[in-house]
Amino acid sequence: GIMADKSMANSQEKEAAGRAAAKLVREGDVVGLGTGSTAYFTVIALGERVKAGLKIIGIPTSIATADLARAVGIPLTTLDEHPEIDITIDGADEVDPMLNLIKGGGGALLREKVVASASKKMVVVADAAKMVPVLGKFPLPVEIISFARTVIEKKIASLGATIKLRMRPDGQPFVTDNGNQILDCSFGKIEDPSALALALNSTPGIVEHGLFIGLAKLVVVGRGTFVEEIRSKHTRRKRVQPKRARTKRSSRKPQRAKP
Ligand code: A5P
Repeated sequence: GIMADKSMANSQEKEAAGRAAAKLVREGDVVGLGTGSTAYFTVIALGERVKAGLKIIGIPTSIATADLARAVGIPLTTLDEHPEIDITIDGADEVDPMLNLIKGGGGALLREKVVASASKKMVVVADAAKMVPVLGKFPLPVEIISFARTVIEKKIASLGATIKLRMRPDGQPFVTDNGNQILDCSFGKIEDPSALALALNSTPGIVEHGLFIGLAKLVVVGRGTFVEEIRSKHTRRKRVQPKRARTKRSSRKPQRAKP
């Protein structure tokens, strides 16, 4: 039926995007390994490259990805050993035109955000359905300590969301790799993701949330069997500096050099 066709098309796009992004990894890189059904294909492709001789070391964003990476022969390390990551490739639940993201559909957002923040470059891999004009149709995952649940639910409701505690199929609350719970918060449209991120960041008991603001440098989107690369507008703007800004910058430079 239509649903099956759609999910097959998505899976093809996920594979195209996941595999294309794996080509961005270079010899010697410390690589952040994402979580989910799209990053899965990146890990598989990297495993193939490792078998063919590529020397890399991976930092997984979840226990599931650590297991997969081990199974395909990617050597792993920790953030303590390698606190600076060269490139991270991860999925997303939604991507807006500024390359702000909603992540955490798979529940791995906390480690994913730590890894993305410690990376020189974060690349997102996604099927075309993930690209949206405005974030928020996908419920925003918020990782919380269970102790604070009701207090946090009230706070997030006051910000305009309807909230569901994420459950496992057996009817028990879902528990993250870090032993926390997830609130899935439906905002409808998040017109100002940075403002919402700030509000959530300043709420005690929220460990992390799935808004990734300004972290993604590049999105590799699957379109059918092809991929499209979308670069962050922040980067593009910096490259094409207007004349005045350039003069300002160069006049500031000598000052910075002063002892
Ligand atoms: C995991 O916690 C998420 O952030 C995933 O990156 C996100 O859910 C994308 O997953 P898929 O690639 O499976 O859609």
